[in-house]
Amino acid sequence: MCGIVGYVGNKDCTEVLIDGLSKLEYRGYDSAGISVLENGCIRTVKAQGKLKNLEDKISAGECFKGTCGIGHTRWATHGEPSDINAHPHGNAILSIVHNGIIENYMDIKESLKNDGYTFESQTDTEIAAKLLDYYYKGDPVEAIIHVLGEVRGSFALGIVFKDFEDTIFAVRKESPLIVGVGDGENFIASDVPAILKYTKKYYLLESDELAILKKDSVEFLDLHRNTIEKEIQVADWDMEAAEKCGYEHFMLKEIHEQPNAIKNTLSPRIKNGLPYLDGCGLDDETLKNFNNIFIVACGTAMHAGVVGKYVIEELVRIPVTVDIASEFRYRNPIITEKDLVIIISQSGETADTLAALKLAKKQGAKTLAVVNVVGSSIAREADMVIYTHAGLEISVASTKAYSVQVAVMYLLAFKLALINDKITEDACRNYTNQLFEIPSVISAYLEEKEQLQFIASKLVNADSLLFIGRGLDYAMSMEGSLKLKEISYIHSEAYPAGELKHGTISLITENMPVIAVATQKSLFEKTISNIKEVKARGANVILLSSCDSKTKPGMMLLIIELTFLVQMICLCH
Ligand code: BG6
Repeated sequence: MCGIVGYVGNKDCTEVLIDGLSKLEYRGYDSAGISVLENGCIRTVKAQGKLKNLEDKISAGECFKGTCGIGHTRWATHGEPSDINAHPHGNAILSIVHNGIIENYMDIKESLKNDGYTFESQTDTEIAAKLLDYYYKGDPVEAIIHVLGEVRGSFALGIVFKDFEDTIFAVRKESPLIVGVGDGENFIASDVPAILKYTKKYYLLESDELAILKKDSVEFLDLHRNTIEKEIQVADWDMEAAEKCGYEHFMLKEIHEQPNAIKNTLSPRIKNGLPYLDGCGLDDETLKNFNNIFIVACGTAMHAGVVGKYVIEELVRIPVTVDIASEFRYRNPIITEKDLVIIISQSGETADTLAALKLAKKQGAKTLAVVNVVGSSIAREADMVIYTHAGLEISVASTKAYSVQVAVMYLLAFKLALINDKITEDACRNYTNQLFEIPSVISAYLEEKEQLQFIASKLVNADSLLFIGRGLDYAMSMEGSLKLKEISYIHSEAYPAGELKHGTISLITENMPVIAVATQKSLFEKTISNIKEVKARGANVILLSSCDSKTKPGMMLLIIELTFLVQMICLCH
């Protein structure tokens, strides 16, 4: 995922840009670059690979002094990772950095070619730069507005012009971009950590808004050049949240932050031992009258939604459909004003999820966002919001955000069940209490590092593995499998244990690792039968189970006894 930083002020801009980019490294990238305005010229340097390569190039002579510039870390989408494809793109007149995708770039490229433009990179960004050059006749705002009228897609742009040495222009459509406000200095960034060292104050740029930054001023315009007044935001994270604090990497830090994140999320939502969601706009009357619930999200957040489906359907007996946002928004879903659409997102900015939310609203459904980032686009667009309080999640591979999303799904299910008279107040209090025990259970597991390292050592050389489970165990397996793929690059698939026999079981080979999850008493024996099936074909099974039963087959690689979030469903029977 790409990162954008821009700086205008009195400091050495190169230093600030490199520092800001280093704070965005966690997003993953394959090349980086900066453009700095220096003595009436745009000076650009780019390098494939790590930021260090860019720094080496800069200290090897391509050094330049300036107080205004833009920087970028690129994750290749259009064209391979290379110096040429790295951002910024532009010419002697202007330079741009870009996040997102310009969908109609091929058409624009053809028409620019007819106008005599030539292209050196394979990127869609270069097309935006050349199109801007085409429209630029001395008025940057005019040119940017023209470009926005032609390009389609979701994107965020940071732009500098040679003729405007102390100014950064920024615009966005769907891809997130913030404008940081300092003392005698201002910033643009794709994410807050890039500027936290310098300021906690920032504006959220909206789609089709244009920001003009000088060191002492920030101006916002709409596409008709009208001035827009915006409300300043203050990040409630400190620098510590953006530092690893002794952990090897952010993901590990965030895994260890799960207990506190869950406590912080649940504490304000429990009153007299019962779920209390009034402050989120969810009064009992609103919550009582839905025919159907849809949960829409992407990636990890969608997996938290699958857990939500199982728990809500089990307790509340309302049909719940879980949708991947990028499918939902294009499949013409059947939703009405009698339905509740729950949107889950850590960032609150994921383009497909936001589009799905807008579609649901358009069709008249009530919308509830479960979001981590306060004031994010999804939080502002939804009718009701439950903020998760996971704190800043820097690792792209989500961990603590998933845990708090799951916790909120449970709490919401308890609340819905109570007000729809599906459970008694005593039962609800009992469930809520047990949910509140989860942070200490997680803390205990986090102490079991050696055991987890042992399991990892058994899996590290696998080419492929399967997660199997039923019901909630299957839901949790989906997230386990995604995490494994994302982090270790080992192929894995989560499969409903009972479905294996209908074809997929033929993939099991001698010594193939299979992680079987069996935490629900009611499904335990059924999953054990499936474990026997894969063992008969030579699989090395690692069993995660909270159920104490003599029916566990012998000769398993490892049995992990656990009581974890998913075990909560056992309470529901
Ligand atoms: C993906 C991340 O890009 O976006 C996932 O890798 C995340 O971890 C997904 O779950 C959705 O993001 P968000 O911010 O909408 O929860």
